[in-house]
Amino acid sequence: MADKCHSLITERGWGFWAAELKESNQFVGFVGLHIPSDQLPFSPCVEIGWRLAYQHWGKGLATEAANGALNVAFEVLHLREIVAFTAVGNYRSRAVMERLRMQESGTFDHHQVPEGSALRKHCLYRLAYETRDA
Ligand SMILES: CC(C)(COP(=O)(O)OP(=O)(O)OC[C@H]1O[C@@H](n2cnc3c(N)ncnc32)[C@H](O)[C@@H]1OP(=O)(O)O)[C@@H](O)C(=O)NCCC(=O)NCCS
Repeated sequence: MADKCHSLITERGWGFWAAELKESNQFVGFVGLHIPSDQLPFSPCVEIGWRLAYQHWGKGLATEAANGALNVAFEVLHLREIVAFTAVGNYRSRAVMERLRMQESGTFDHHQVPEGSALRKHCLYRLAYETRDA
């Protein structure tokens, strides 16, 4: 996965970045921007995503890094909108989206998750450049 992230960053100049602790440069996970390869009901889009090692949960690191990624999305790349999505039961990820003040924007069935799986129903959040600081 690191190789894939690296090659996309090389190709586009941005992507899912490694997240490190500022004080020690310890690698803690990834946070960043991505164009989903799947066709989704709201495509085309750029998503924001995150995954941290468990021992680094509960410290505000995902939200801090995601705010940095949103700054890049809106102030450097001049994107108009960022989306985020996750399984409806992934409350920790949804809480990050809500801390970023993304707007809950309905649900959809993720076609890559088998029918009948509790992970199939996803919720979508959106954040428009115009409303970020409103
Ligand atoms: C999603 C994920 C990144 C969220 O991590 P998280 O630690 O819950 O989120 P944050 O880093 O923003 O931390 C927020 C928590 O830190 C707390 N916190 C502690 N110190 C803090 C500080 N200085 N500033 C802000 N928050 C702080 C907050 O109160 C909050 O705690 P709470 O969850 O008890 O309310 C993590 O659960 C994860 O990696 N999950 C697996 C991968 C995954 O599901 N990714 C999404 C797939 S779509």
